[in-house]
Amino acid sequence: MEHVSVMLQQCLEALNVREDGIYVDGTLGRGGHACAIAGRLKSGKLYCFDLDRSAIEESDGKLARTGADYELILSNFINMKAELNKRGVEAVDGILLDLGVSSPQFDDPSRGFSYRYDSRLDMRMDQSQTLDAQLIVNTYSYQDLVRILRDYGEEKFAPAIARNIEKARTLKQIETTGELVDIIRQSMPARVLNKKGHPAKQTFQALRIEVNHELDNLRSVLDQGLQLLKPQGRMAVITFHSLEDEIVKKVFRNACQNQQIDKRIPLKDSELKQADYQLVNKKVITADQAELESNHRSHSAKLRVIERRTSQ
Ligand SMILES: C[S@@+](CC[C@H](N)C(=O)[O-])C[C@H]1O[C@@H](n2cnc3c(N)ncnc32)[C@H](O)[C@@H]1O
Repeated sequence: MEHVSVMLQQCLEALNVREDGIYVDGTLGRGGHACAIAGRLKSGKLYCFDLDRSAIEESDGKLARTGADYELILSNFINMKAELNKRGVEAVDGILLDLGVSSPQFDDPSRGFSYRYDSRLDMRMDQSQTLDAQLIVNTYSYQDLVRILRDYGEEKFAPAIARNIEKARTLKQIETTGELVDIIRQSMPARVLNKKGHPAKQTFQALRIEVNHELDNLRSVLDQGLQLLKPQGRMAVITFHSLEDEIVKKVFRNACQNQQIDKRIPLKDSELKQADYQLVNKKVITADQAELESNHRSHSAKLRVIERRTSQ
């Protein structure tokens, strides 16, 4: 399937790209958003991160054709501040994060992200790391499996699935996505299996989040991103499930809260020290009707944007 960048126009508007600005795409993928940002630059520069080597390799040519100044950084975005500082960059005009797995990663059976193919249970975005989905299902304790499936997958049948994983692996290692899908099916009543939607969706989401430390990484990059923004600089974040969106919403809300320096003195809101950041859109941005119809991936996408205020 061809990779289509989600909410491309909304992201460009959200970032308000300046031709001389310094921008960061923390999740390069196949470079759709990155090329659109690069296309608006003249004397500016774009730094792109991805921890997946194939994303870096495949986007290089596309970015080169934009004629913009750019640099590709094969690294987890949790190293954003350190990697930029190493290059003499202390502050930036805009940061984009389009989280999760890219369509090419998802659609490549060998990466083991999808329950639609029977392949090795992998799910690593960074193929150089040791932890993968196979290691988790074969070595994590029952309690840890239940916790992950519940917390990261909001899976109601977490105890039954974890119990059946434990049972299956005493007979033989669980090696493929297909074997795991069978175990999940055996753990659910027929009335649930007959419902719309794949029964393995939540378990696969949970394992992917655990394999790639997605929620901790997100908290870290949001924190670094806020620090890196110049006055009037913006950070735009697209999430694809509620756990991620809740984190972004909370971090942005806290950053925009006016601060009371001495909590013992009762003050009106107008008397509080104004927060350093403000939300660009009060309400979350979602895909428009045309995109919803043409790009299935956009259905769960939510975009939130924050701006650093000009210091007074
Ligand atoms: C949804 S895709 C981005 C698609 C991209 N915006 C485009 O238009 O083609 C997400 C990408 O972010 C990368 N990614 C996810 N988490 C990451 C992290 N912690 N550090 C660096 N890259 C990450 C994935 O490898 C994937 O290539």
